[in-house]
Order: sequence, then structure tokens, then C-alpha cells
Amino acid sequence: MGTLPVMNICCIGAGYVGGPTMAMIAYKCPDIQVTVVDLNQKRIDAWNSDHLPVYEPGLDDVVRAARGRNLHFSTEVNAAIQAADMIFIAVNTPTKTFGTGAGRAANVEFVEKCARQIAEVSTGHKIVVEKSTLPVRTAEAVKRILENANNGTTFEVLSNPEFLAEGTAVQDLLSPDRVLIGGESQTAIQTLVDVYAHWVPRERILTTNLWSSELSKLTANAFLAQRVSSINAISALCEATGADVDEVAKAIGTDSRIGPKFLKSSVGFGGSCFQKDILNLVYLCEHFGLREVAEYWEQVIKMNDYQKRRFCERMVRTMFNTVSNKQIAIWGFAFKKDTNDTRESAAIYVCRDLLQERARLKIYDPQVSEEQVHRDLIEVFSHTHGTITDQERALIKEHVRVAASAEEAAQGAHAIAVLTEWDEFKRLNYDSILQSMYRPAFIFDGRNLLDHRHLSSLGFDVHAIGKKIS
Ligand code: NAD
Ligand code: UGA
Repeated sequence: MGTLPVMNICCIGAGYVGGPTMAMIAYKCPDIQVTVVDLNQKRIDAWNSDHLPVYEPGLDDVVRAARGRNLHFSTEVNAAIQAADMIFIAVNTPTKTFGTGAGRAANVEFVEKCARQIAEVSTGHKIVVEKSTLPVRTAEAVKRILENANNGTTFEVLSNPEFLAEGTAVQDLLSPDRVLIGGESQTAIQTLVDVYAHWVPRERILTTNLWSSELSKLTANAFLAQRVSSINAISALCEATGADVDEVAKAIGTDSRIGPKFLKSSVGFGGSCFQKDILNLVYLCEHFGLREVAEYWEQVIKMNDYQKRRFCERMVRTMFNTVSNKQIAIWGFAFKKDTNDTRESAAIYVCRDLLQERARLKIYDPQVSEEQVHRDLIEVFSHTHGTITDQERALIKEHVRVAASAEEAAQGAHAIAVLTEWDEFKRLNYDSILQSMYRPAFIFDGRNLLDHRHLSSLGFDVHAIGKKIS
């Protein structure tokens, strides 16, 4: 096909996606120089230190193997763009909080800024790759901005959405189910295919047109989130009828047409992308006049909000209709295990609702810092009514403590709420935890993680999602 090999890659955005994906490319392609740039000096310093800004099992080893050899982290954005033949855009695309589409549309201003900066400082020929998750047809805007660079530079635009999940990023990158590349120019597509083919079997590298690639990313997340909302909807019915949601999930998941994955009922899905990407899809459907389609997908989010809300309601109801001034141990604050990411974590919403009931919270998460917990709680109260009141600020200050261990959080507590499925919670000495708590000692397992029968036999009053514990 006559493609020229890529010698030099630049990635703009050193976040959860840019950092790990580029580390893997550098690790697997020693012949390519990879520079990850970001405006955030603190983040870049962390990537250059022994304490990476992203916690992912196995990531330290990958970064250590390539950093300084052919993997570099820098704030010199212009220099990195100029030196690169291929530029990835992996900046954040949060839900818009202002103007048209606020609360739904994706805010693509950071992507546009990158495109303008690339247009301004580039020379020669560049392949620009959208790595961020974007609304369908964003590549058109990126192309127009690049085409207007009047310094003789030529550009090709590709879409290469990322499918890694946090907590398993290294494994997902090492052995992806598929890599998706959308574009118009076969030469540009093949150039990127050749990069991934250093370690991904070619039959797993799918190529499509630009719009299919952009839309496939939103669709994949919508389908995954839909499965979680579907099983969570059934969990409410299980609680009402005496069925057991884990048994139902197994029974349906063994049907090979349905499959077993993403059927774990929980306190609700979180993470930076599921909600954002579905809202983005809903907004796109509305934009194209597809009201019924928009409503269909919006229901996935409504069900998730319901699941988070009813978890707290059930806690209050079970604890004799009041949690005011009772101490509740919150186990887990990250949106899933094996990550330090708390974005849209269900724990944030459950904690907010418990605080509104005047509960006292002792929070423990093995990877989330005290500062992050406070930042998230202040932010969620601010969002709830547009501003945080002095009373709410005082409530957070006086009613929230962060503990150094699960046992410490449970000491002197009336209840434990398991909100993240960290493995370490399965290995604790529950006998001594029970001795340190008020009676009845309640456990609300928002992840159906623990051995409920055993806990019941010890004397805990156990409540789980979508099942009755006898
Ligand atoms: P992030 O917020 O962790 O990182 C984005 C980084 O981009 C930040 O460090 C920010 O400082 C930097 N940035 C923003 N504008 C910049 C600019 N003009 N120049 C230089 N740096 C700039 O975000 P993320 O979680 O890595 O997500 C990035 C994109 O990837 C999003 O579109 C997201 O939807 C998508 N995605 C995320 C995941 C995930 O697991 N987090 C998975 C797949 C796809
Ligand atoms: C998700 C997708 O799985 C990735 O493919 C995608 O690249 C990424 O979004 C993205 O675009 O950002 P991630 O959010 O990191 O990855 O993690 P998931 O494993 O998908 O979990 C999302 C949420 O759903 C978590 O809160 C998790 O606890 C919850 N979940 C997941 C359940 O409650 N039950 C399940 O069965 C599965």
C-alpha cells in the first residue's frame, strides 16, 4: 500500500486514556518515539515520577520499561506537535455545563483547541487521530480547521476510539478484543494499522468509515451501560418477589445469545464515560429529530439514578427510618475496583443522600485520597442546586471522616455500606469487626461482594442488592 512508517507520535492529553495507551504503544513499538503532552504540569510531573497519576495494575512496569527510552512526558505541546508524523488527540470531552445542550451534549472545545493548535504550528504532512470519544461528525469540524491552516501543511484525519476499561487498562491494551480505525484515506488508515500490528493480530484491527467509527464508540458504551441498567431494573423486582438477582443473571447469562458479562447488579454504574456518552447519544438523536430513540437511551440513565437513590432509601428504611447522627462506614469510593478514579462514582451520590439524612460517614477506599473525597462531595452538593450552602459545607466538614482501613471505618458504626467491590473486603476478620460495631450491626452490600450467609451466621443484619438474606 506504500505507507511510510511512523517514526514519531505525539499525544495531546496525558489522562486516563492518553497516558496508558501511549505507554503501551511505546512499550510495544521501540522503533517509534512517543511523546505525551499536557497543559497540566502537575500531571506531567507525576508521569515522570514514581507515583503515576493513574492507578492501574501493571501500568508501572510498562511505563518504567519505556520511559526515557522512547516514551516521554512533557508540557512542550508545540515542540511535540512539530516533531510528530502522527498526533493523537486524547483530551477530555465532558458533558457541557452551559449554553445549548447543557447537561447533555459533549463539550468538544478542548478538541477544537487542539485542532487549531495543530493547524497553527505544524509543517509537512500529519496524520491526526481522534482518540477522545466524540459526537458523530466531529471529524468534519477537525478537518475543516486543519484545512484552513494556510502554511502548506497537509493533514489526514482518523478516528481511533479507545475501548479500555479502567482497572484492566493494561490487559485491555495488551490484548484488545478489537482496535477500530475509521478514516477516508486508505494510506493513513494503513499507517495506523501498522502501528497496532506491532502486537495486535491484524484480524482484530477493524477499519471503517469515519462516522461508523465515531458512532461505534458511543454505541458500545450505551449497550454496556444498558445491560447494567437492565439487570439493576430486575434487581428491584427480585427484592419485591423473592427472586435472587445473581441467580437470574446466571440463568440468563448462560444463554450464549445473551452471554454472562456485564450482568452484575450493583448500586449503579459510575465512571467518567457511560453517563456522558449516553447523554451525548441522546443529544445527537434529539438533534436529528429522533425523539423516540433519544427517550429509549435516556431510560438507561434514569434507571441508574433510581438504583443509586433507592439504595440510600432502603438503608434509611431498614435502620428504623432514621440515620441521623448514626455512624456509617462507607467501604469504597472509587467507581469500581482497581482504580483511583471517582468520576461519577455511585458512592458520591449515596454519600450525598446519606449526608442529607444527617448521617455521619467514615469513608475508606484503598486508592482514593481524603482530598479527593472532600472535593467530590463539595462538587456534588454544588451541582445539586447550583451552589453549595454554608450549612452543607459545615455538614461535610463535621460529618465526613476518612479512615485508613475498612476496620477503622467500621469501628463504632451502626452500619457498613459496601460501595466498591475491592477484593480486600472479602478477606477481613468479620468477627472482630462485628464486635466493634453497634447492634444491630447492618451491612448493606451494594456490590453483592461478600459471603452473606456467613455474615448472617456471625450476627450481622445483611442486606444485598436484588435478594433477601435469610
Ligand atoms: P482526562 O481528563 O483524564 O485527561 C484529559 C487530559 O487532557 C487532561 O490531563 C487535560 O489537562 C488534558 N488537556 C485538555 N485540553 C488540553 C490541551 N488543549 N492541550 C493539552 N492538554 C489538554 O480524560 P480521560 O479519562 O483520559 O478521557 C479522554 C477521552 O477519552 C475522553 O473523550 C473520554 O471519553 C475518552 N475515553 C476515556 C476512557 C477512560 O477509561 N477514562 C476510556 C475510553 C475513552
Ligand atoms: C467503560 C467501558 O467498559 C470501556 O469499554 C470504555 O472504553 C470506557 O467505559 C470509556 O469509554 O470510558 P469503565 O467505565 O472504565 O469502562 O469501566 P466498566 O468496567 O465498564 O464499568 C463501568 C461501571 O459499571 C462501573 O461503575 C462498574 O462497577 C459498573 N458495572 C459494570 C456494574 O455495575 N455491573 C457490571 O456487570 C459491569
